[in-house]
Amino acid sequence: MKMNQELEKKFQEQITLEFEASMVYRQLAIEADEQDLPGMSAWLRRQADEEIVHANKFIDHVSSRDNHAQIGAIPAPDVREGLAPAEIFEAALAHEQRVSESIRELYRTSEQAGDLDSRPLLNWFINEQIEEEATVSEIVAQIKLTGEDGAGLLRLDAQLGDRPNEGTEE
Ligand code: FEO
Repeated sequence: MKMNQELEKKFQEQITLEFEASMVYRQLAIEADEQDLPGMSAWLRRQADEEIVHANKFIDHVSSRDNHAQIGAIPAPDVREGLAPAEIFEAALAHEQRVSESIRELYRTSEQAGDLDSRPLLNWFINEQIEEEATVSEIVAQIKLTGEDGAGLLRLDAQLGDRPNEGTEE
């Protein structure tokens, strides 16, 4: 069943935000690479790809509902040069928290509209956000635990670099 216009607009905003998240992660991957942390850079780059998978999931849902999946303007990533490793992942966490709130808002709008058809997808995303926030927050904590231990940081870097490459499609 076609969704109402207000909900369609919220979905369009979410699609744009997922692409924005991809650009933020891609920029953070560049910053990690500049800090000579190839494993963290690879991890962030794979996350950038996963955000495109998220955008595609929303696009497919909107199109399947016979609505229009419009991608909006995407701002340049608000990421400054020279971030320390913990700051790179803190920036990622802050963006994830913004995405989580946006998905909750999307859920509220769908509830108000009584739009049952979007529930399974939105439930999936609510769980996904809990997982993503927990993962990034754990990485921030682990980087902080290494403190001044350069060898520990390099071990963590190698471990993060082992994340499998899932591409931009499911
Ligand atoms: Fe698509 Fe990381 O939220």
